[in-house]
Amino acid sequence: MAPLLRIAKKHGIKFVLLFALIGAFVYLYGVNPKYQGYAADQPIPFSHKIHAGELNIDCQFCHTSVDKSAMASVPDTATCMKCHAYVASDSPDIQYLRKTYEKGIPMRWNKVHDLPDHARFSHKVHIARGFDCTQCHGNVAEMDKVEVTTEFNMGWCVNCHRENNPDPKPPGGNHAVGITDCSTCHY
Ligand code: HEC
Ligand code: HEC
Ligand code: HEC
Ligand code: HEC
Ligand code: HEC
Repeated sequence: MAPLLRIAKKHGIKFVLLFALIGAFVYLYGVNPKYQGYAADQPIPFSHKIHAGELNIDCQFCHTSVDKSAMASVPDTATCMKCHAYVASDSPDIQYLRKTYEKGIPMRWNKVHDLPDHARFSHKVHIARGFDCTQCHGNVAEMDKVEVTTEFNMGWCVNCHRENNPDPKPPGGNHAVGITDCSTCHY
């Protein structure tokens, strides 16, 4: 017992730090499923299943900036009115859509996917790299209500970065920032 106590006294703080570190990594990489399965109610029940699925409208017809900037962008009501000035006039939801459009009131869509501000993400680079929307968002074209289909936490980002990491940094070259470096995603 005595030797154990001595070790604990001398090295206790190291064990505490070790466990804290392991705990932090487990937390960051795994135990954080706060996004998966999340879906938000919207002011009117816009359905991707109807528009992107049955009508087969291209994602980029509405999410116009997804290949050009960080944000994918959500369409304004004018985009909807290209069709709904004529289509589904009987629907109370469409009548509401028209009324807000005429009054110039933007639709307040609730965010579904939302990373904290300290994390940096850009659609442009990922689209340029050839990733499909489904890899990160699931099959949206089959959803009436958009839902988060992955863990969407840091481990999810880092795992894919690790799998797709190009060759290690060139010897002596410090110009290349590895895509798994903290500073790639954090300000
Ligand atoms: C006719 C227009 C339209 C088309 C086509 C469309 N979307 Fe959307 N999308 C919207 C609107 C409006 C919203 C906001 C309301 C909502 O979340 O349902 C949205 C929301 C989303 C969201 C959730 C945004 C958030 O807040 O996190 C994702 C992801 C998404 N769309 C992906 C896609 C994908 C992938 C496709 C193609 C398969 C697609 N969309 C096609 C109009 C469209
Ligand atoms: C590599 C993963 C990845 C791919 C591929 C991807 N997205 Fe996203 N998407 C995200 C992340 C992460 C967010 C949350 C961004 C934030 O909160 O800052 C997001 C958010 C969105 C949003 C909400 C609005 C916004 O810009 O933040 C829409 C709409 C969207 N994505 C549509 C699309 C569409 C359409 C495609 C395919 C053309 C696509 N995404 C491909 C990861 C991805
Ligand atoms: C390319 C044409 C087109 C565009 C653009 C479009 N829609 Fe539609 N939308 C349709 C069609 C077609 C239907 C199916 C109508 C039906 O079933 O009678 C529909 C159905 C709907 C419905 C269900 C109506 C009901 O009660 O039956 C809603 C709500 C809706 N759209 C909202 C939107 C919103 C919001 C936007 C813009 C983000 C949008 N639509 C953009 C063509 C379009
Ligand atoms: C499906 C795989 C995949 C997922 C998931 C993914 N990424 Fe990436 N990401 C990549 C690849 C591959 C690159 C390198 C692209 C290139 O340089 O061609 C990259 C590059 C980046 C870059 C560097 C952009 C630049 O300017 O060089 C940032 C920032 C980034 N990702 C953030 C994120 C964040 C944050 C998440 C999670 C929310 C995420 N990524 C999820 C594959 C992914
Ligand atoms: C590929 C992108 C990416 C890389 C690389 C990355 N992170 Fe993160 N990190 C994220 C994202 C996205 C979140 C937000 C996750 C969430 O909200 O669940 C995050 C969250 C965090 C948080 C906050 C945890 C919380 O619960 O809010 C800390 C601290 C953190 N990261 C530290 C680091 C450190 C240290 C490194 C380098 C070893 C690193 N990150 C590398 C994307 C990344």
